[in-house]
Amino acid sequence: MITLIETINLTKRFSEITAVDDLNIKVEKGEIFGLLGENGAGKTTSLRMLATMLQPSSGNAVLAGYDLVKEPKKVRSCIGILFGGDSGLYDRLTAAENIAYFGRLNNMEESHLKERISELTEVFGMGEYIQRKAGKFSKGMKQKVAFARSIVHNPDIMLFDEPTSGLDVSAIRNVHEFILDCKSQGKSIILSSHTMSEVEKLCDRIGIIHKGKLVAQGSIAQLQEQHQGKSLEDIFIELAGDHK
Ligand SMILES: Nc1ncnc2c1ncn2[C@@H]1O[C@H](COP(=O)(O)OP(=O)(O)OP(=O)(O)O)[C@@H](O)[C@H]1O
Ligand SMILES: [Mg+2]
Repeated sequence: MITLIETINLTKRFSEITAVDDLNIKVEKGEIFGLLGENGAGKTTSLRMLATMLQPSSGNAVLAGYDLVKEPKKVRSCIGILFGGDSGLYDRLTAAENIAYFGRLNNMEESHLKERISELTEVFGMGEYIQRKAGKFSKGMKQKVAFARSIVHNPDIMLFDEPTSGLDVSAIRNVHEFILDCKSQGKSIILSSHTMSEVEKLCDRIGIIHKGKLVAQGSIAQLQEQHQGKSLEDIFIELAGDHK
């Protein structure tokens, strides 16, 4: 097995709050790891650290063989990021320009970038609007551009923070298919979610995070075995519910 993501006592403190407390997880190539936790548990903070958007207070991680703290640029070139909510596209740029802009940020060569954009346009069926400005796009159109942008540089690692929050049924289905495609291409994926059915459908293993600490990890079958065959939701509430 090839480990593409390993965190080593990864910690983030914001003054008196420890948002992420000694996180230790490993994700293999071709594996989807789910991060489950209540509001404020530390999921986004963990993913932002792995995405090099936030410096750890202590601890470290190795992504695709690169040291997060010492080689953030190299780490960035190996990761694709899709955070839920706002797609972050530039309204005044076309879909193609939005994708190209991101590719250039990742040091992609122009000819390769052009080729890659046509390939992604085909894959996501964006032909009709790839040359139109993104400002007036529907949510679903924006989302496809955001998918394409996140993988334009063909990263080995994908980080998804609540990628389906606020989407309709078909759009959620699209996101799920996109994530499963990434898995079948051998990418390592970390996904945060509040939806038990989503996690059950997609994740090979999960970690439950409570007040910044990982309180359980394993496959759903393993967790159920350790908790008298209870449902994932019951296990989650028991370990990380708001009564705790
Ligand atoms: N920039 C910041 N400055 C201060 N505190 C922060 C900052 N970002 C996050 N926190 C705190 O860190 C803790 C973890 O927040 P985080 O956003 O990681 O939670 P989350 O698990 O993603 O929650 P949600 O499910 O609501 O998205 C919270 O107590 C939050 O208030
Ligand atoms: Mg969050």
